[in-house]
Amino acid sequence: MLRIILLFTAVFIPMGIFIFMKSDQMERKLVIPPGIELTDSERTGEILFAKKGCNVCHSILGTKGGSGPILDTVTANKSEEDLQKWLENPKLVNKAARMPNLKLEPEEIASLISFLKWVNMVNETVDAKDPQS
Ligand code: HEC
Repeated sequence: MLRIILLFTAVFIPMGIFIFMKSDQMERKLVIPPGIELTDSERTGEILFAKKGCNVCHSILGTKGGSGPILDTVTANKSEEDLQKWLENPKLVNKAARMPNLKLEPEEIASLISFLKWVNMVNETVDAKDPQS
């Protein structure tokens, strides 16, 4: 009987800890501080970010990205005009661009930029609260 109990603890407790740690990793998300809401345009941009496949190549707020650069602070580093031109047609800005032309409407570009500004603002807020990360 004691053997069975020992076997039980030796197998299931580490397994439980392992699963617990794994699920913690999978579910790790950036915690958006309360009080930070999205405007309609920002919300539209958030939807477009997934609908147009930006999220496949780009990480924001800790999401899994791909071949593209992380866009958390892109609006702090690039002017709105540059971003507009880039999203209209990356290859017109840089012939060697790997990012495809997603044939976005001007309103879609405006929403995406306002969403990316929101992302930047969230990042700054989180950084200010937790300077270590
Ligand atoms: C197929 C992958 C891919 C998709 C889809 C994609 N991008 Fe990109 N993006 C890139 C790559 C790669 C770069 C880096 C420059 C280059 O080589 O084109 C980039 C660069 C950028 C930049 C400039 C970043 C900087 O730091 O200069 C912005 C802004 C951007 N993308 C936004 C978007 C948005 C918004 C969408 C969705 C509408 C999108 N991207 C869709 C791959 C992609």
